[in-house]
Parts: sequence; structure tokens; C-alpha cells
Amino acid sequence: MITFEKAAKFIGEIEVPTDKSITHRALILGSMTDGVTLINKPLLSTDTLATLNAFEYIGVDIMNEVTRFTVRSDGYRKFKEPINVINCMNSGTTTRLLSGVLSPSKYTSILTGDMSLIKRPMNRVIKPLSKMGADIRARDNDNFLPMTIHPSKMFSATIESEVNSAQVKSAVLLAGLQLEGESTYIEKVETRDHTENMLKRFGADLAVNGNNITVKGMSSLSAQSLTIPGDFSSAAYYIALALIFEGSEITVKNVGLNKTRTGLITLLESLGIVIDIDLKEDNFEPYGDIRIKHQKLKGGVITGDIIANMIDEIPVLAVSALFGEAPVEIRNAKELRVKESDRISAIVSNFKALGAEIEEFDDGMKIYPLEKVNKGVKLKSYRDHRIAMINIILAKKFGVDILLDDIGCLDVSYPEFIVDIMNLEEV
Ligand code: S3P
Repeated sequence: MITFEKAAKFIGEIEVPTDKSITHRALILGSMTDGVTLINKPLLSTDTLATLNAFEYIGVDIMNEVTRFTVRSDGYRKFKEPINVINCMNSGTTTRLLSGVLSPSKYTSILTGDMSLIKRPMNRVIKPLSKMGADIRARDNDNFLPMTIHPSKMFSATIESEVNSAQVKSAVLLAGLQLEGESTYIEKVETRDHTENMLKRFGADLAVNGNNITVKGMSSLSAQSLTIPGDFSSAAYYIALALIFEGSEITVKNVGLNKTRTGLITLLESLGIVIDIDLKEDNFEPYGDIRIKHQKLKGGVITGDIIANMIDEIPVLAVSALFGEAPVEIRNAKELRVKESDRISAIVSNFKALGAEIEEFDDGMKIYPLEKVNKGVKLKSYRDHRIAMINIILAKKFGVDILLDDIGCLDVSYPEFIVDIMNLEEV
């Protein structure tokens, strides 16, 4: 069991690790494009290295120079037969985006993952790709890893989303990119559009009309040099620190501010929280600095389409709600049940252990402001990086009264989280 010393407040400036979603896509498009792509400031984490490793298995030469990845590829038409089973580790993005990349291939690929990933649904990508002619088989009625992608004759198609997922949209677009004709993906709710931005950056022929996204197959792609901005999902933990610790004042520099990701900011602003934003748009993804001072969160019901643009930040909102003025009810968030852990159940059981009043719903939870904290509380990470990070925030709030289990999962998105928050801490 791990304990932390109490912190009083957090003050200063920080740059968070770069964006996980964008790093995956830069590796994918760089590998699909003939030429040399330079990815500056990539996120180095177990998830992004799983994607890097997968492309090495199919013949792409990727040099990891720590502050840069140099991707040398002959393009997707020259991908080789995978020399091994592709282990996507903990990364849903790797698995689902690769299923789109590899399904038009003339070779057989086998994808698998760790104990968490093999429990996450894969029919959400197998179904639409099958409608485009893919031949994919997976465990338990074509739903779970391991998954085998067999060679098949695929064709372009129009696919309507059945689940609000950027990963599914990306799988369809990345398969469509390799097929004759135009493929269209119609989404019900706007999800993160990093794949669209990356396709445009590499010169693909892409048209976005409202929620209809059309990619022209066989577009010619050109290799790029690009720089990845900070990860808003990692920056969100600093927003929680500011909301929770009185006297805090934090600036997060150079963080990605794509509006399909910053639903948490939109929501907090609608609840009266003031966040100063200095937006810069001189990159293929908007980015900038955010500054927040301690303010108390107000209560409310959070539901509807905004959830899709803050799905990874719900744990941050939940932990902040414990220190707010009134209950926060989160609905329409059933997707949380199929993330790296069942995040609704993980948050509910940890917060109950802490002494909080919390109600659980199939699609969300209602969190009441914390009145008293139990002693010797054990919080579990469920080996989920985002749960581990909110547990660490609670441990910094209550000190040795909180015991934490395994936090090795921080490596999935934010390996230096503990050191970084301690650098801003005042005791
Ligand atoms: C991601 C999309 C989201 C998000 C995940 C990363 C991506 O999942 O939760 O952490 O990089 O495309 P969905 O596919 O459910 O949108």
C-alpha cells in the first residue's frame, strides 16, 4: 500500500505530457505515408509505444529519439506481413484504429491485449468494418480480443454510427482511405476529430459536412513534420487540483484545446467557473495556455451530447464534485463502463469507501459533497490510469489516511504525474 503526504495547495506553471490520441494518429498516418515523417514531442507512454511496436511488426522503421519519432515508411501499400501477434497492451485506441488500418491488408493479422483490453467490446469496430467487406473474427461471438483480421476484398461504403466513438469513426476512415471510391461516416454526436485533422494534415482528400465525414480512397499522402500539443485530458487533473485545494493557482502551458476535447471547460464555464484561456491556432491542432484559480464547484445535472466531449474527464469532474457546494449528477455516460475499467463502478466503490454519499445509475452517478472522511481508507486503481490519478489527488488531500494500491498504470498516459504535481505543491 502507498501513502502520500498532505498538500495544502498547488501553485505555479506546468507543461503536461503531449496528447495521447494525437500521438497515436501521427504514428498511424506517418506509417501509412510513403516518406519520412517527423513527430516532434510525441507522448512516450505504454499506449503510444504499443502503436509504434505494431507498425514495426509490419515493416515500418520508427526511430524513438525520445523527443522525436522518425517514421520511415514505404506507405500502406507496402506494409509487410505482421511478424508477430500484435499486442495492443492496454490501448483501445491502438486496437480499434489498427483494425481499420489492417483490415484492407492482403495479410492476416492477430491483435490481442492485456487483462483490461481483452474485456473491452470490439464488435463496435468489427461490425462497421464487416459492412465494408472486412473478414474479422474475434473471441466470444466476434466481440473480444484476440481478434484475427483475414485478407478480404473490401469496398467503400457509408456507415452510420451506432455508438458515439471517435475510435470507431477513425477505424472506418482509415480503412476507407485505402479503398477505391469514397467512404462516409455519419456520426450522431460529434466526437473528437483528431483523425480528420491528421488526415487533412497528411494531404488526404477529406470532406466534413456537419456530422458526415467523407474520405476519398487512395488519396495521395505526403510525409510531414509535426509537433504534438499537450494532452487536455492530463491537464484536466490540474483543473481538479485548483477546484479542490484552496489557495491554488495553476497555469498549464501549451495544452491541446481542440473543442471536441474541451467539454469539461465548456461545462465548468456554464457552472460559473472562471478559466483564463490563451488560445493559439498556428498548429494543425489548436492549443494554448489555461489558467485557473481555486473556486468552489457548483452542483448540477450533466447530460446530453457534451458528455462525448468530456468522456475521459468524468473522473476529474467526479473527484472535484466531492469538494463542491451541491450534488453533481452525471448521466448519459454509460460508455464509462467499458473504458480501461468500469469507471462508474470504480468511482462509486472508492468514493463510498472514502465516506462519501454517492448514487450509482446504469449511465452515471450522483455525487454529494463530502462531509466526513473515513480513516485508513483503501482506494483501488483497478489498474486504470485515470482512476489512479484521482486517487492520488485524494491522497494529497487527506495524507496518510488514504492508502492506495498499484499505480503502475500511470505509464499509460502520464508516467511523471506524481513528480509533476509535487513540483507545484505547497505544504
Ligand atoms: C479516443 C477516443 C475516446 C476516448 C479514448 C481515446 C481516441 O474513446 O475515451 O480515451 O483516441 O480516439 P471513444 O472511441 O469511445 O470515443
